[in-house]
Parts: sequence; structure tokens; C-alpha cells
Amino acid sequence: MASNLKSAKDLVVFLGKSVIACLESMVFTIIPKPRKNVAGEIVLITGAGSGLGRLLALRFARLGSVLVFWDINKEGNEDTCRMAREAGATRVYAYTCDCSQREDIYRVAEQVRPFLLPVLEPEYVVDKIVDAILQEKVYLYVPRFISFVMFLKSILPVKVSLLVADYMGALNIMDGFVGKNKKE
Ligand SMILES: NC(=O)c1ccc[n+]([C@@H]2O[C@H](COP(=O)([O-])OP(=O)(O)OC[C@H]3O[C@@H](n4cnc5c(N)ncnc54)[C@H](O)[C@@H]3O)[C@@H](O)[C@H]2O)c1
Repeated sequence: MASNLKSAKDLVVFLGKSVIACLESMVFTIIPKPRKNVAGEIVLITGAGSGLGRLLALRFARLGSVLVFWDINKEGNEDTCRMAREAGATRVYAYTCDCSQREDIYRVAEQVRPFLLPVLEPEYVVDKIVDAILQEKVYLYVPRFISFVMFLKSILPVKVSLLVADYMGALNIMDGFVGKNKKE
């Protein structure tokens, strides 16, 4: 009896979901689905050193994404990096990684993780500061994501806030920062 009820319930759920999927498909045939905005989003491309990976990299460069490239071929990866910059990307990070080796993926992921809170471009930060002064803003959070962290801090226990900050790399983000090389 119980198994009959479960089967009937599964059938109703299946039919319900199918009807919704069909309706959704019909609506999106008439009204095109809005395209996702990936400007500023982090896009990680494995095998970025050539072929499909490189072409994807150049597409996302033009869409304004923050790019992370993983490839076993350092030279090819760096070429893609340069091409992505030429195509308009401002934040591009290339890592040499053998994606067939689990340990190598963990190693490189560790390097990428602090990047969740990246060191920002000085021009961007200065623009934000000047805007804030001119608009007489009381607070300025840069990057904007920090305002979310401040919200979390106001509702979470201190220890949990610290754990979140540590996980996001906020506690040691400036450890390796020795200033930027002067442009020629
Ligand atoms: N090109 C096509 O028509 C096509 C169609 C469907 C699927 N694919 C598949 O898509 C993938 C990419 O195809 P492609 O044409 O761009 O090939 P490609 O050889 O031009 O590029 C592959 C890239 O992956 C890198 N790479 C190889 N092994 C790696 C590893 N262990 N760790 C990290 N990087 C590694 C290479 O250095 C290279 O830069 C392949 O798996 C291919 O089978 C290709």
C-alpha cells in the first residue's frame, strides 16, 4: 500500500514537473530568456592553453569576466593570458595545473581561493574613494562584497564571522602583497 502511494506521488510529481517544463519552454520560445550577465563573474577555464579553452577565454574576455586559466602547458596558458588582455580582459590569472592529478588540482585551488577577495586595481579603488567623497557617503566598502560580510558580522557569532573571513582569505589577503610593479 505504502509503495503504491509512493509510486502515485512520484507520478504526480513527474507529471507536474513535465507540465511546468513544457510551459516554461513555450514561454521562452515566445519571450527570449534574458542572457546572463557574466561581467565581473569569475570564469575558470581548464585547458585554456589552446583550442576550445583559448577560444572560450577570448569570448569571456570580451564579456568582461574575471578569468582564471588552468593548463598543463605554461607557455600556451600565458599566450592565452596575453591574448585575453588584448581582447579587453583586465583581470586574468594563469596557473599551471595538471588536471589529471587530484593533488595538483587541490594545490592550484589553494592558490586560487584567496582570489575570492582579490587585490584590486588601484585605479578602480581610487575611483570608488573619490566618488564616495563627492557623494558624501558615510561608509565605503571596497570590494562591494564587504558590505555583505558586514551584514553577516552583525547577525553571526563573532567566531563564525572569523571562520567565514578566514575561509574567504580575508585574514591573510595582503600577506604576499609587496606593492605593484611600476609600469614602464
Ligand atoms: N575540438 C573539437 O572539435 C572537440 C569537440 C568535442 C570535444 N572536444 C574535447 O574538448 C577538449 C579540448 O579540445 P581542444 O580541441 O581544445 O584540444 P587542444 O589540444 O587544442 O587543447 C587542450 C588543452 O588542454 C591542455 N591539457 C591537456 N592535458 C591537460 C591536463 N592534464 N591538465 C591541464 N591541461 C591539460 C593542453 O595543454 C591544451 O592546452 C578535448 O578533451 C577534446 O576531446 C573537442
